[in-house]
Amino acid sequence: MPNDVRDPKMERINSKELADAFIEEQVTAIKKQVGNNKVLLALSGGVDSSVVAALLIKAIGPNLVCVHVNHGLLRKGESEQVIKVFQKELGANLIYVDAVDRFLDALIGVEDPEQKRKIIGKIFIDVFAEEARKIEDIKFLAQGTIYPDILESKGIKAHHNVGGLPEDLNFELVEPVKFLFKDEVRVVGEALGLPHNMVYRQPFPGPGLGVRCPGAITRDRLELVRESDAILREEFANAGLEGKVWQYFTIVPPFKSTGIKDNKRTFEYAVVIRAVNSIDATSASIEEIPYPLLFKIRDRILAEVNGINRVLVDISPKPVATIEWE
Ligand code: XMP
Repeated sequence: MPNDVRDPKMERINSKELADAFIEEQVTAIKKQVGNNKVLLALSGGVDSSVVAALLIKAIGPNLVCVHVNHGLLRKGESEQVIKVFQKELGANLIYVDAVDRFLDALIGVEDPEQKRKIIGKIFIDVFAEEARKIEDIKFLAQGTIYPDILESKGIKAHHNVGGLPEDLNFELVEPVKFLFKDEVRVVGEALGLPHNMVYRQPFPGPGLGVRCPGAITRDRLELVRESDAILREEFANAGLEGKVWQYFTIVPPFKSTGIKDNKRTFEYAVVIRAVNSIDATSASIEEIPYPLLFKIRDRILAEVNGINRVLVDISPKPVATIEWE
């Protein structure tokens, strides 16, 4: 059987028992593949890279070197959770790279969505390669490739516009979850003891909040996206919708409108709320958010996010719209 085809006899991992057996098998396989060598991993905090990190920590402990790049476009609390879970709780050998200024400075004035993606992808590779070169004797690179990545893009993790590492960084790949589907990765993640909200979190694009701050990204508008997104996620979780709705997030378009506060006119940004359901992101329908919940979210955003005077709801399905605004 070619080495990128899932064994048709492989049972679907849908229970703790099957996940435990898979973990044991992979721990042995990883140890055999890498021996006493160090392995590098870009740890974003997404489901796939988090599960791979937890598996490798179990197999080789500090020989796994995780690099977490903060590009300034992550959601509120995301980097903090990666550090808490992996460094503090699992004892990972974790390098945190604060590259916020580098990314945001390079994005100043860039309006075109694909250009924004290219810049974010390129700087990510540059930052990661710089960190990789600082560490001696690294032969292996772990990746959170999953089976749909292989089926859809012949093994290249389908992050739009992100190129490969430079040629001199020629690593052997370690891809322990490459034959798993997303639901199986989640079951394995829970069996490894990762937090439920990390394992069942909604899809989050590589360019992060950058595509939810349409047009040229500015730091003030980016903060409005981050703060309103945090409120939306908190209220969805309180309403028991976490893990039930495919994706829900906020957008802050690059225009202002008039409002009134304390008897004075304001001229501020608007927040757009978007919540969609989907099976595989190729099409999407609108989650019908109940009005009482919408009003609660609206009230919190207007009261807590300074610089917003209007809250809108995007009810456009895919097609004709896309899920993200860019
Ligand atoms: P669209 O907006 O094309 O999104 O309907 C479909 C799904 O893909 C995600 N998305 C991305 N993911 N890099 C990613 O890793 C990207 O540049 C990107 N753009 C969109 C989006 O969140 C949705 O789940």
